[in-house]
Amino acid sequence: MAIRLGDVAPDFTAQTTEGTINFHEWLGDGWGILFSHPKDFTPVCTTELGGFAKRKADFDARNTKIIGLSVDDVASHNQWKSDIGETQGAELNFPLIGDENHAVADLYDMIHPNANDTLTVRSVFIIGPDKKVKLTLTYPASTGRNIDEIVRVLDSLQLTASYSVATPVNWTNGGDVIIANSVSDEEAQTKFPKGFTKVKPYLRTTPQPNL
Ligand code: BEZ
Repeated sequence: MAIRLGDVAPDFTAQTTEGTINFHEWLGDGWGILFSHPKDFTPVCTTELGGFAKRKADFDARNTKIIGLSVDDVASHNQWKSDIGETQGAELNFPLIGDENHAVADLYDMIHPNANDTLTVRSVFIIGPDKKVKLTLTYPASTGRNIDEIVRVLDSLQLTASYSVATPVNWTNGGDVIIANSVSDEEAQTKFPKGFTKVKPYLRTTPQPNL
């Protein structure tokens, strides 16, 4: 069953490179990103895991834990780890789930049989402090993810969770945002003291409120 936005992220207990983890307990009160990669000892995955490791401080700064998964076992992940450090300039600094029996992959619908019937696709699930799924992304094996985009969307999710705003096309942290249509002009004056621009009655922009 596909996981949809707003669903509670399914809980599980799994073996990882950092020991046994109960997912919800491990998430704690913060945000989390669960992502799958197709296979250990493969080129794109090696660059992605290094890419996530290099940006760990950015996820930490956003109170967000990251955890990876493939259908390889923990012993394989542990052997592969040194290649990531050697070739990507960053040691693996977050847990990788060993999912050789596909238990978590099936729970999160990470195997798309018409793409590949045994390997996980490149799924991303961003989970909020309420344990609900805020964002899903799916990439094929042949396309590595863009970590800047994952951080960008996390910034948008965290901002829009706290303020009555939405983020426009190509928004990045620091850019103007859109005031939610549920907010009247009168309310906007108090909620957004930096002021707002009324481009259309339904399109009002304001400087990013948390800066
Ligand atoms: C890769 O990471 O390069 C890869 C993994 C599985 C299938 C194809 C490519």
